[in-house]
Amino acid sequence: MKVLVATDKPFAKVAVDGIRKVIEDAGYEMVLLEKYGDRQNLLAAVADVDALIIRSDVIDEDVFAVAPKLKIVVRAGAGFDNVNLAAATAHGVCVMNTPGQNSNAVAELALGLMVYAVRNFYNGTSGTELKGKRLGIHAYGNVGRNVARIAKGFGLQISAYDAYCPDSVMEADGVKAVHSAEELYAENDIVSLHIPATPETKQSINYALLNRMPKGALLVNTARKEVINEDELIQLMNDRTDFKYVSDVMPNANDKMVELFEGRYFSTPKKMGAQTAEANINAGIAAAHQIIGFLKDGITKFQVNK
Ligand code: 3PG
Repeated sequence: MKVLVATDKPFAKVAVDGIRKVIEDAGYEMVLLEKYGDRQNLLAAVADVDALIIRSDVIDEDVFAVAPKLKIVVRAGAGFDNVNLAAATAHGVCVMNTPGQNSNAVAELALGLMVYAVRNFYNGTSGTELKGKRLGIHAYGNVGRNVARIAKGFGLQISAYDAYCPDSVMEADGVKAVHSAEELYAENDIVSLHIPATPETKQSINYALLNRMPKGALLVNTARKEVINEDELIQLMNDRTDFKYVSDVMPNANDKMVELFEGRYFSTPKKMGAQTAEANINAGIAAAHQIIGFLKDGITKFQVNK
């Protein structure tokens, strides 16, 4: 059996070594394709592989069509919006993610972005502290929960909204449960986004919602750019010079926003949330184990195209 690790944005070397060991110890072969740039390289590499480990790499019908032996794709990470699940299912391919494995890394970055923003992007002027401010966590999954855990240490007052998470889970963490996005945005100085990109959430962070935030608002996005209605965010930031936006998922309108919102907008050049050795090791090795469990024992835990 041949397992291809295809990561345009490479894992840390220590993670690749770990993945290779797990795969080879199982008696399989590992092939590595990093920084492949041109998609043709990916299409050529999948021709004879049985399993595939990816990150944000786009896996669509074009890939499945040229990978006749492919049985399983594991997205080493949380969000699987980069995989066409219907195409996978049509080709009889199992798709999994590795939930929770990189969530601490993303949560740490979210807090880092908050500090960066409230300290005026380290420009030497007097900023504010996080202590005592109100933080709203939008979606209380693995990343949201880690954000809450770390935010407590900063002395933030934390509330969260998640339509799919019982209040008791939030309350057990000392987090106030609110029952609508509108309420969350109205009641918090900072909102940190942790919703996945789905047909329901895409473009859902819009002018009306953001405009509920109090004066001096800060929006932090370590989730996906697609959940933001960019035109409306730009309109809002034009109308409200008190509003700041920091992002780890660069907006399509980055250049325009850099020009328009100096001192109120920042985006990392490339998604950095899960770019730690620890997250790469956790997610990459989990992916390797999940592939072996599936191919040897038919284990489908974490399958997302059931
Ligand atoms: C995820 O969905 O797990 C994160 O967005 C990390 O994505 P990455 O593996 O492309 O860094």
